Amino acid sequence: EQINKGKYDHYMQKEIHEQPESLTTTMRGRLIRGGGSRKPKAVLLGGLKDHLKTIRRSRRIVFIGCGTSYNAALASRPILEELSGPIYREDTAVFVSQSGETADTLLALEYARENGALCVGITNTVGSSIARKTHCGVHINAGAEIGVASTKAYTSQIVVMVMLALAIGSDTISSQTRREAIVDGLLDLPNKVREVLKLDEEMKDLAQLLIDEQSLLVFGRGYNYATALEGALKVKEVSLMHSEGILAGEMKHGPLALVDENLPIAVIATRDACFSKQQSVIQQLHARKGRLIVMCSKGDAASVSSSGSCRAIEVPQVEDCLQPVVNIVPLQLLAYHLTVLRGHNVDQPRNLAKSVTTQ
Ligand code: AGP
Repeated sequence: EQINKGKYDHYMQKEIHEQPESLTTTMRGRLIRGGGSRKPKAVLLGGLKDHLKTIRRSRRIVFIGCGTSYNAALASRPILEELSGPIYREDTAVFVSQSGETADTLLALEYARENGALCVGITNTVGSSIARKTHCGVHINAGAEIGVASTKAYTSQIVVMVMLALAIGSDTISSQTRREAIVDGLLDLPNKVREVLKLDEEMKDLAQLLIDEQSLLVFGRGYNYATALEGALKVKEVSLMHSEGILAGEMKHGPLALVDENLPIAVIATRDACFSKQQSVIQQLHARKGRLIVMCSKGDAASVSSSGSCRAIEVPQVEDCLQPVVNIVPLQLLAYHLTVLRGHNVDQPRNLAKSVTTQ
């Protein structure tokens, strides 16, 4: 039933809209809601329970993945760094792969195993090579993903890596309030994704405006640098329009030269510790008459588009480490609609395979 397109025209479209449910399945049985001060909110990752101590004692934790799976690891890196604290002795290598069969990732797995690292798999495919060859792991349980462009696997991978950070950090008293806020955020995340999916028509309108463009830049930083990379990856792989994710802090070191009244530039400026820096990027782009699309938190549209030509996309605000899950959805929808409007194959873009099993 899952491999049926149901009411949708394409698998990618179905998989984008499935995210409230796939995220719920990813978290099912893994979040402890808590009950007063005696039972704190926490996570339970069965597949790692015999290995968590070793992971905590690692000298380093290294994440390995390609394409979207790489971006998912990048999106979760700051929360892992924040909650895992000092790590020491030997290494833990975490292999992130939707298919569990990517040749480059598998090769890195063989190398890490030979060198004695503890190998953890995060995959969507039970029985896949990566699931079998790692010492332990977590299945993301997002359901079959048929579209070549990874969508729901990306958001579930991030959720699993945030849960991994919570599990590793679970014995640190000083971060308990922060961890509990993240657990609450996770529990409400499917609702927030459901809310952001209502932007479907708005993203279709935007796609209509961009249909003949040659290029789209996407500026992000902090937690949402990964969103910029992943949004640009979605646009280029399915709509065949050039798109580039750029670290906003790098703007003055080159990309600013491209800014004029014509080139569309998406800036991710939702509220988090990087917000004021992103506001200043927006001002500088306005000053150069940039053609901006700003993704901002609910209620911020008027202020971000107050000067210059700008289209604002308002998204619900969530805990900073979960914001990439919400923010990628409008960009997935934009990529989808751009592709349909440009008349390209959504589910099987030219030259690409769902799983890259050769080097
Ligand atoms: C994503 O939309 C791509 N099709 C691609 O980058 C993919 O994520 C990459 O090939 C890794 O695949 P995996 O997660 O199955 O290992």
